[in-house]
Amino acid sequence: MARVVTVANQKGGVGKTTTSVNMAAALAHQGAKVLVIDLDPQGNASTALGAEHTSGTVSSYEVLIGQTEPTDAMQASSQHDGLFCIPATIDLAGAEIELVSMVRREYRLHDALRRGFLEEQGFDFVFIDCPPSLGLITINAMTAVDEVLIPIQCEYYALEGVGQLLGNISMIREHLNHNLHISGVLLTMYDARTRLASDVADEVRNQFGEVVLKNVIPRSVKVSEAPGFGQTVIEYDPTSRGAMAYFDAAKEFSERGDYQPHETTGPIGVSPEVYAQLEGEN
Ligand SMILES: Nc1ncnc2c1ncn2[C@@H]1O[C@H](COP(=O)(O)OP(=O)(O)OP(=O)(O)O)[C@@H](O)[C@H]1O
Ligand SMILES: [Mg+2]
Repeated sequence: MARVVTVANQKGGVGKTTTSVNMAAALAHQGAKVLVIDLDPQGNASTALGAEHTSGTVSSYEVLIGQTEPTDAMQASSQHDGLFCIPATIDLAGAEIELVSMVRREYRLHDALRRGFLEEQGFDFVFIDCPPSLGLITINAMTAVDEVLIPIQCEYYALEGVGQLLGNISMIREHLNHNLHISGVLLTMYDARTRLASDVADEVRNQFGEVVLKNVIPRSVKVSEAPGFGQTVIEYDPTSRGAMAYFDAAKEFSERGDYQPHETTGPIGVSPEVYAQLEGEN
């Protein structure tokens, strides 16, 4: 069974796309079969994966509106064996409005993936890259998965909007997808030289606990250069600090498995040990 993971944070520029493509590439590099679904009309994940995504290319837009099956929108990465991408084109910008009048408008992606596609393809991981908003496209990403991975940038206002994101996840859990939960939080653009970065990291760990991955992603020029070459940093410079950090984070995320929430932790996942402990206390 694939672990299907939505990478979300409605705050812009926190590293959602960078995390989606590099976690995916790192896992593919480690031998997994991985799909990235680009659900952002900006198409940044498609760019980083070197996927064709000019307007009119069969993409996540056609999948959402039901014009095509995922298999026909999927492209194999030329960078990594076992890595695939369903790209996003600018056409997706219209979907937010078009979806409103469609049947099962919150479940279009869920339905498309679960008409046999996931079973037939045998992916180990699917990562869905979200736009920085909480509209119907992001809701489709949240109903198609169990797991949410939240990248948080170690900067001023890092936790701004995180309360709102938690509220939305809780609401979707209640009304649209009972299985939805946060199985990972990843600290990105961490600058070890600054007090600010460690303060933010402490604050995030205080709020989210051990669902926060131990590995953090440092701020690294190589990471930001890679998309300009249509590459992940895993391909662009696999020995750079940024690439190594994504290798480690991917390994940690894969090895520890899904963190399920306890009924006392809302949507926030906990380790099996803490889960057992919380059960004991009840
Ligand atoms: N670890 C890092 N070191 C340096 N630059 C980074 C790092 N991670 C991301 N960046 C850069 O920061 C910018 C924002 O990252 P990214 O596009 O992944 O964020 P995003 O959350 O997907 O943004 P959006 O909300 O617009 O979709 C990009 O220019 C990216 O190259
Ligand atoms: Mg993005």
